[in-house]
Amino acid sequence: MYYFKNIDRQQGEGQMGMDPMEIDQMGMMDGMGMGMLRSDMFLINDITEAVIREAHAYNFYQRLAELAPNDEYQRTILRIQRDEARHYHWFTMMLNMMGAQQPQIPPGDLPTGFIEGVRTAIRHELDDTAFYQNIAYRATTPHVQMHFLHASHDEQRHASWFQYMLMNL
Ligand SMILES: [Fe+2]
Ligand SMILES: [Fe+2]
Repeated sequence: MYYFKNIDRQQGEGQMGMDPMEIDQMGMMDGMGMGMLRSDMFLINDITEAVIREAHAYNFYQRLAELAPNDEYQRTILRIQRDEARHYHWFTMMLNMMGAQQPQIPPGDLPTGFIEGVRTAIRHELDDTAFYQNIAYRATTPHVQMHFLHASHDEQRHASWFQYMLMNL
């Protein structure tokens, strides 16, 4: 985190000690957003895909939490779901800052059983880990690099939690 904050500082795009969310909101409010992310506009299609993946994950985990066999697993899934809501917020904010349209979210698949749902979740989380890491590596602005790396690490951790659940059923 500090590493990225320092990059932000060098480029005059953030302030030391500020939460990334606050930087987002500043970008939105003072109108500097579009200029700030212009060099990453070639990633709009990928960021749009990321928004759809996050919305699907959020809905998927809502149902999976209802299917959870105990309170501990249910709480863990709802914590993971909150991370997805945060990612969704970051990525929609990026599209806003780039002046891009928000996507229509097509209906996604929902789990019908807990174990099957956890297996699907692991596959999606690992897919998303790689997809976001790839976006982070291609991005040119610290803002996009930081948020996609952060999300990639979150998805990796989510995959581990679901693997843990599967092993301890
Ligand atoms: Fe996510
Ligand atoms: Fe995730």
